[in-house]
Amino acid sequence: MDIVIVKNYIEMSKYAAGLVGDCIRNEEHPVLGLATGGTPIGLYQLLVRQYRECLLSFKNVRTFNLDEYIGLDPTHSKSYHRYMQEHLFSHIDIPRDQTFIPDGMAASLQRECRHYEKLLKKFGPPDLQILGIGENGHIGFNEPGSDFDGHTHVIRLADSTREANARYFQSLNEVPTHAITMGVKSILRSKKIVLLASGERKAAAVNRLLEGKPDPDFPASALTQHQNVVLVVDQQAFGK
Ligand code: F6R
Repeated sequence: MDIVIVKNYIEMSKYAAGLVGDCIRNEEHPVLGLATGGTPIGLYQLLVRQYRECLLSFKNVRTFNLDEYIGLDPTHSKSYHRYMQEHLFSHIDIPRDQTFIPDGMAASLQRECRHYEKLLKKFGPPDLQILGIGENGHIGFNEPGSDFDGHTHVIRLADSTREANARYFQSLNEVPTHAITMGVKSILRSKKIVLLASGERKAAAVNRLLEGKPDPDFPASALTQHQNVVLVVDQQAFGK
């Protein structure tokens, strides 16, 4: 794992935007794996800026999001569908049918998981996968105890994840209890993985990741088994 320590959130976002920009320029049909949450917002703002300045086009890009809450309509203000529209898709020239996010409202969630995995196999794997890290070590919504061999599946969110994500909702009660997530194995198929971590809240998780021991109770540790991972971490999250 390559480790890039940067000063702060802005520098982390800039570094990540550079890697995403390189990927889009170098690949004929780039496939990006995308995350939501607070961490990549700065990255998405920079990508939108590069598009507006005609430095980047997303016309040939396909995107796969890691996860979506179960039970939130795509128009719900806290759904990841809506998040992606607001932070990225509605501001750039990506054709809508080239963006994929699991459907948390699907009548059959099992079928939706299989369908998403098929799409990943057909168009993927991502050339570059952006990841954030949960305070409990989750990647995507692969919670502690997740199988490293897992594909896209339904997961019950850990209490610690619901508590951490309550900051994005009005109250803890509103945070969905379940999600669809790409599995650890689906994530590890990506050609390159860029893991972003910013702020003191992530320091313990980053520290544990750097211990380097694969442990299903700490899903991010699966990344130590991948040959092309860049951890872009700011000084606060690096904790030293
Ligand atoms: C989001 C996702 C999660 C987040 C993680 C960190 O699509 O898959 O793994 O990356 O929960 O969230 P933030 O960035 O809000 O701290």
